[in-house]
Amino acid sequence: MAVLPIRKYGDPVLRTRAEEIDVSEIAALEALIDDMVETMYAEPGVGLAANQVGVAKRLAVIDLTVGEEPGNVHVLINPELHESEGEQFEEEGCLSIPDFVELVSRPERVRVTYLDREGNAKEMWGEGLMARAICHELDHLNGVMFVDYLRGMKKDRILKKIQKLVKAGEWY
Ligand code: NI
Repeated sequence: MAVLPIRKYGDPVLRTRAEEIDVSEIAALEALIDDMVETMYAEPGVGLAANQVGVAKRLAVIDLTVGEEPGNVHVLINPELHESEGEQFEEEGCLSIPDFVELVSRPERVRVTYLDREGNAKEMWGEGLMARAICHELDHLNGVMFVDYLRGMKKDRILKKIQKLVKAGEWY
């Protein structure tokens, strides 16, 4: 297993719509999945999408315990959102935009279907932080980042700070 470098805001792969994964491909993704989980724990973070490590495929990993409690890692292949309920407004961050958090509105509950790492069709309801993590990772797979939801001066301020860091070479 290996910790992979995380692509940062400004990298085109983060703006790419990730491709569907064929069931026959899943076995070949074992090493990537393990590396993504290790990378998520090393950062540390609660979720990671494949395009954040440069692979534009519809795959994400989530572990709200960041590896503290075994058995909490969710591997989501081709995740699809089917239902959402309620609203939550909490601070959100992203490993591809390090050291920035902003308030983002998300549904309180979501129902998602996906394939697990064995290729089994699964369905789950996520609530609270899990709902937020699912929406955040699904966005990544569609080339969307949480700063896209910010508006006005807040957005200008955060993008200016990011551009300054990119220019200074502090992100790469
Ligand atoms: Ni993110």
